[in-house]
Amino acid sequence: MDFTHLSLLAILARASAQGNSTAFPPGWNHLAKSPPMGWRSWNAFGANINDKTFRDAIDAVTAKVWDVGGAKASLFEVGYTRVGIDEGWENCSGTDPDHGLRQHNVDGTPMINVDKFPDLKGLVDYGHSKGVLMGWYLNGCACGEREERKVNYAGDVKLLDAFGFDAVKLDGCGAATNMTLYAQLMQATGKAYETENCHWGHCGADSWFKNPDGSSCPTQTWAPFNHYRTSGDINSGLTSWFANLQTTTKFQNLTHPLSQPGVWAYPDMLEVGRIDGGSFAWNRAHFGAWCVVSAPLILGLDITATENLASIVPIITNAEAIAVNQHWAGHPGRLVKEFPPSGAAGHMDGDQVQVWAKPQPDGALAVFVVNPSPSGKATKVSVDFATLGLPPSVTAAKLRDIWARQDVGTTAGATLTASVEPLDSAFFLLTPA
Ligand code: GLA
Repeated sequence: MDFTHLSLLAILARASAQGNSTAFPPGWNHLAKSPPMGWRSWNAFGANINDKTFRDAIDAVTAKVWDVGGAKASLFEVGYTRVGIDEGWENCSGTDPDHGLRQHNVDGTPMINVDKFPDLKGLVDYGHSKGVLMGWYLNGCACGEREERKVNYAGDVKLLDAFGFDAVKLDGCGAATNMTLYAQLMQATGKAYETENCHWGHCGADSWFKNPDGSSCPTQTWAPFNHYRTSGDINSGLTSWFANLQTTTKFQNLTHPLSQPGVWAYPDMLEVGRIDGGSFAWNRAHFGAWCVVSAPLILGLDITATENLASIVPIITNAEAIAVNQHWAGHPGRLVKEFPPSGAAGHMDGDQVQVWAKPQPDGALAVFVVNPSPSGKATKVSVDFATLGLPPSVTAAKLRDIWARQDVGTTAGATLTASVEPLDSAFFLLTPA
C-alpha cells in the first residue's frame, strides 16, 4: 500500500498510546495458529549471506527429497515452509541524521546492499514460485542504528510490503523496538505478516523496549507479534540449547500460559545438526525439547551441506515429534519435575534430569525426559500421573516411544518410569488405557 501523509500521521499519533493498547490481543492477525516451521540464515552463515544463499536454501528445502517414514518427501512437504533472511542484507551507509552509519536513508527507506542482494523482490518472487513463505529481518545490529525515527518504521514496512515478504523478524538491536507501531503499520498494508519479536525475553521494565510497562513480553491482552524470543542468542555449545529451554518456563502458566496459538514462546532457532561435540542423541534431545514446549521449529544448519543434513534428517522429519509440537490441546507444554529438585542439598543445579509434558488431543499427553548430565550412568526416574497433569480417572496409559515410533506397552499403574542415558532423552506419547 501507499502510505499517504495523513494515514501515516494518524497511525503515528495512535501509536504513542501503545502502552495501553488492547488492539493487538494474542492471535489478532490470525497467523501462526501452530508454531511456525522453516529455516533461517543466522546460525549457519551469520551476516555472510547473499542472494544465492537463499536461492540455494529454497532449492534445498523444496527440491531435495528424503526417506520420511517410508515415503519420499522434501523438508517443505514435512512442514518447513518458511525461509528467512537474517542480518546481512543491509548497507550501513545511510546518511541522515548525523549519528554514524545506519541502514536507513534520510526518508526512512531501508538501504540494501545491492552487491549482495541485487533484487530482493526477485528473490521473494523466487521463493513464492516454489511455494515458500519468505521472511525478512529488520532493526538489526550490524549498522548500530541508535536513533528512533518514526520514518524508519514506516520505511521498513513499506519495503516489506513492496517486496512481497510474508514474515518478518524484528530485532531489538536498533532503535526501532516499538512493536505496536510496527503492527499498526503492517495492519495498514492490509496484509498479515507473521512477526517475530526478537527482544530476548526482556520482561521487566526496560526503556529500550518501548512497550507496555517498558516490557517487551506479551500479556494476556497485548501481543502484536506471533512469536517472541525468551532468551539471548542460542549458540552451538553443548548446553546452549538446554539453557535457552529453561527460559520458556515463565510463559507456561498452567491455566493462563502466555505461549499459545498465534503467539509462541521461542527459545531461538534450532542448533540441531550444529551442536559442538553433540551426538545424534543430544541433537535429538534438542529437537524434542523444542517440540514439547511448542517452540517454532526454525532450522539453523546449512541445509545445502547434504551430508550433515542427512545425518539429522531422521530427527527433524519425525512426524510424531512434529505432531506433538503442532497440536494444540489447551497448553503449550511445561516443565513438570526435576530430579533431584532444584536446590537439593549436595547437588549442583543444571544437570538435573527434567520431565516436560504437553497435552495432546483426545486426552493424550506427550512426555519428554532429558538427561543433560555429560557423564555418569543412565538415570532412572518415575513420575506419577498426577504430577504429569493427568486426571485421577487415568489409572494406566498405553506408551508410544516417539523416537522409535513404536508402541512399547502399558504403564504399570499411574506412574511413568523412564531410564535416560547422559546427554540423551526419552519421548513418549501416553494415551489413557
Ligand atoms: C541478534 C539476534 C540474533 C541475530 C543477530 C544478528 O543477536 O538475537 O538472532 O538476528 O542479532 O545480528
